[in-house]
Amino acid sequence: MQDAVSFIKSKTGNFTPEIGIILGSGLGSLADDYCEIAVPYADIPGFKTSTVAGHKGRLVFADICGKKIVMMQGRFHYYEGHPMETVVYPVKVMKQLGVKTLIITNAAGGVNTDFKPSDLMIITDHINFMGTNPLIGKNDDTLGVRFPDMSEVYSKKLVTLAENCAQKLGISLHKGVYMALTGPSYETPAEVKMARILGADAVGMSTVPEAIVGHYCSMDILGISCICNKAAGVSTVGLTHSEVIAAADSAKQKFITLVLAILKNLN
Ligand code: HPA
Repeated sequence: MQDAVSFIKSKTGNFTPEIGIILGSGLGSLADDYCEIAVPYADIPGFKTSTVAGHKGRLVFADICGKKIVMMQGRFHYYEGHPMETVVYPVKVMKQLGVKTLIITNAAGGVNTDFKPSDLMIITDHINFMGTNPLIGKNDDTLGVRFPDMSEVYSKKLVTLAENCAQKLGISLHKGVYMALTGPSYETPAEVKMARILGADAVGMSTVPEAIVGHYCSMDILGISCICNKAAGVSTVGLTHSEVIAAADSAKQKFITLVLAILKNLN
């Protein structure tokens, strides 16, 4: 970890990021638009390379709306075969770099039948259905406590800020519960029905490990899902990754506009 932090600092000098953003599928263009310093994951000690198409695999540092930002252009998924430790490692590194607020984005399937492709949902809470937890193992007391409270993982203040920004911009926004499953297979209709009965509004294959670790190490978390498709069974047609990417792409401008407004108004 210390090697990773030292290596990154050797590239970024005295740039101290205060806000981290994890960019999900199709949303990476924010990092292309604002890139000042890019550090490829392949060069950073302990980082692995992402295997998902559409994920670039680098940390991008930039000043955006007067804020110092580090963006993850591409993330590590559990379904790629990475251990949880690898999935959440960048969050711990961001913490060491000085990040206090973490914005986590993802592509998700709409479980709530009111949701349409390209809608945005602010995550108010999550259900960890991955069958594991990123904090399993010896606890690092310098980062957080052994049994961290999870009653407000997603900062209510940030949810309100996001809602206010969206309202001013005329962007309609859902709020809801995100359920994480491991993937990589999409859900069956029965699993989506289960997710709805259990209280989920959206399903996906990421975000929850990073949110657990971010909250554990005292970051303020904001989660935003791009609803890319109606989840299995809600829609009568089958689901493809290219359809998910296309929906994320068509929501991209709205998503970026919202994130920029949030960054501007964060204090
Ligand atoms: N399920 C799980 N993950 C997803 C989906 C989905 O329907 N869409 C985008 N990511």
